Amino acid sequence: MPATKTPWWRSGVVYQIYPRSFADADGDGVGDLRGIVERLEHVRDLGAAAVWLSPIYRSPMADFGYDVADHTDVDPLFGTLADADALIERAHVLGLRVLLDFVPNHTSDQHPWFQESRASRDNPKRSWYVWRAGDAPPNGWIANFGDQRPAWTRDEPTGEWYLHSFLPEQPDLNWDEPEVEAAMHDVLRFWLRRGVDGFRIDVAHAIGKDPELGDNEPGRRHSEGWPSVHPRLAGIRRVLEEFDGERVAVGEVYLLDQRALAPYITSGDELHLAHNFVFLNLPWSAQRFRTVVDEFEELTREGGWPAWCLNNHDHSRTATRYGWSRARVAAMLVLTLRGTPFLYQGEELGLTDVHVPPDAIVDVDDRDPERAPMPWVAPSQAGPGAGFTTREPWLPVHPDAELLAASVQAQDAGSDLAFYRELLALRAATAALHSGTYRSVTAAPDVFAFVREHEGRRVLVALNFAPFPRALPDEAHGGRTLLSTHEVAAPGTLAGDEGRIVELG
Ligand code: GLC
Repeated sequence: MPATKTPWWRSGVVYQIYPRSFADADGDGVGDLRGIVERLEHVRDLGAAAVWLSPIYRSPMADFGYDVADHTDVDPLFGTLADADALIERAHVLGLRVLLDFVPNHTSDQHPWFQESRASRDNPKRSWYVWRAGDAPPNGWIANFGDQRPAWTRDEPTGEWYLHSFLPEQPDLNWDEPEVEAAMHDVLRFWLRRGVDGFRIDVAHAIGKDPELGDNEPGRRHSEGWPSVHPRLAGIRRVLEEFDGERVAVGEVYLLDQRALAPYITSGDELHLAHNFVFLNLPWSAQRFRTVVDEFEELTREGGWPAWCLNNHDHSRTATRYGWSRARVAAMLVLTLRGTPFLYQGEELGLTDVHVPPDAIVDVDDRDPERAPMPWVAPSQAGPGAGFTTREPWLPVHPDAELLAASVQAQDAGSDLAFYRELLALRAATAALHSGTYRSVTAAPDVFAFVREHEGRRVLVALNFAPFPRALPDEAHGGRTLLSTHEVAAPGTLAGDEGRIVELG
């Protein structure tokens, strides 16, 4: 059989950049595209294969860019289209691919499409959004933000209700209207022509909804994940395939049931990858992680490549959720399972959430703490902006920036940054880790252990979820330690909170 080359998006690691918080080049306290360009070498040196940028489009920023007012322009806060071109070019020179966030489910209420749509019942764009007449909201669907508020707002001048799965400032597009699908495909083409390597698709499962607007039932949701979502994602995939290179579609499929998630990636003609939020939302339990990973392995055995992450711009960071002493074990887990790892900016620095005082809160859904700016340089060297900005940052800088700054950790062989770099380098150099099969193995309580195997080379990963020592699995005995979260790896025993990668004989 001829050897087929593993596509980059299977073997590589994706690094998420939240542009507002990465690096501020123009000194307004908010990150921007030129700032990203200046710091891209950090991502290259970490060993990632690609960056995913959270939205950079023109936006009134009601949801910090997830409310798009113009899909084919960059928000002035972030820079210009020329800056985006320069970023894509610089990334490619450094060997990094670029994925953009694509937000198909909704636009901003300031988008010209919605401005037209709301103007009158007979406007040609009326059908581009979901409108219904009536005295009360058309059904019981609930918006994702806020306290169980209806997903419907009544709008003047027509007095009808429009659907918004998120904020009222984020009206849902009507994907049952073929013109919407065609227009959104053109958005994809606009960026693919500019050289982007793919997209992370925001709430990808939401572009299929029950056209009858039935109420959600236990075990069956009508507001998302409707069967029509599958041909629509296949349509997006076909647009990617109009272009050369290995362009990739990654879905944010926020379904808390792996059996519902798997079909998005197993058919081979829809998403290449889908984030797994069952995994991301697990408590710190070896048994729970093993059960979930084993189940997803089973579901994707016949085809389908998992994606794993424990951090992003919407969730409390692992160093806070699970505790700082466990964050390295969590990193080893994400980076050694069979599948594509996604890292979120700052996790490689061991960042915890940052406390944001009540009068400084800016997000509608309490997500400021995980969005605090990247500390690049110790404040004693660079001032209070820690190399992120020279002015007042839009969110507070981490109080421990003096110790956590990237340039400080880069000098310290025992730092979290050094550990992440070693881990990514080992993964890249070890085919069993990036391309091998997966099999979980019997282990002591609190230990999640598995073997990755590729062309006869076997590597065992053992992760101790307990703060106390635990026996190393029998299979690991006689093996050679390739990497441990701890400086000293004791023979036969895992220390508390230790993760270890062992090459088997
Ligand atoms: C996704 C994004 C989140 C955003 C929401 C609405 O969940 O990750 O940040 O607020 O969609 O677009």
